[in-house]
Amino acid sequence: MRVYITREIPSGPLKKFDSAGIKYDVYSGDTPIGRDELIENVKSADGLISLLTDNIDKDIIDNATSLKVIANYAVGYNNIDIKEADRRGIWVTNTPDVLTDATADLTIALLLAVSRRIVEGDAFTRMGRYQGWAPLLMLGTELKGKTFGIIGMGRIGYAVAERAKAFGLEIVYYSRNRKHDIEKKLGAKYMEIDTLLKESDFVSIHTSYSDSLYHFIDSKKLDMMKDGSYLINTSRGKVIDEKALVSHLENGKLAGAGLDVYEFEPKISEGLIKLDNVVLLPHIGSATSETRTAMANMAVDNTIAVLQGKKPLTPVNSPFSE
Ligand code: GLV
Ligand code: GLV
Repeated sequence: MRVYITREIPSGPLKKFDSAGIKYDVYSGDTPIGRDELIENVKSADGLISLLTDNIDKDIIDNATSLKVIANYAVGYNNIDIKEADRRGIWVTNTPDVLTDATADLTIALLLAVSRRIVEGDAFTRMGRYQGWAPLLMLGTELKGKTFGIIGMGRIGYAVAERAKAFGLEIVYYSRNRKHDIEKKLGAKYMEIDTLLKESDFVSIHTSYSDSLYHFIDSKKLDMMKDGSYLINTSRGKVIDEKALVSHLENGKLAGAGLDVYEFEPKISEGLIKLDNVVLLPHIGSATSETRTAMANMAVDNTIAVLQGKKPLTPVNSPFSE
């Protein structure tokens, strides 16, 4: 049995492969693996640990004739052709739960960064422009009593809501399914998407991505947002029409945005980079040592389970159901 890993991940958990008598190879480049090299290396592999930067499409899956499991090193799995994996009888797994708190923390970090101009203030101070305390210096906006709109009330959305509640924000949400328990626990109010956009001072996106959500937040929806509101995105960039976002930030319709993900990742729209009222992060929602190690453990455990003929711990498909 042989597993291919498309990038270096925390190495501790890989020792479990040795104990299980499973060989593994790790791509050693420091940028995402090229397509040809990926095809070549998974051709004879029994297991694959892939990243969200790897496009595991039909061609790659069809070339991998021994493949039994694709363990994605991410909670999102929109980079994998699930239908094709199903058809080929290949399990696909993700890394839910272990990255929920890290991602929720980063979302709150972006919320505070944009509302209190943290990054702008740091740059200002370093440039030597701070001339002493001043009543009108770097005024931001208060969180307490404002309305925080969450799009997608899954595990991460809920963890963000819990944290936002502690800041005195009023929680409203839009989700495919209503979550009555969360409404009760957090006093959260369910709203249709248009209403949420009209009412919220801050909007944060926590949906898991599929093609049906492409440009879900388009120019029309940005128009609906409250004047001077803020948009946060730590989910997937393609949910937002980035060009429309830039124009709504440029014309002052939105007061600011905090982004960890981009429509054309890793490329970032020129317009965004020029703006002072946005905070731009390099997709680091789950980037803590603890979480990245836990994700590695989960991907390895999922892979070993399948290669030992068992059901994986966190499957996202069910290739053997009728
Ligand atoms: C990160 O974006 C993930 O899906 O884990
Ligand atoms: C959804 O937001 C999740 O945690 O997968």
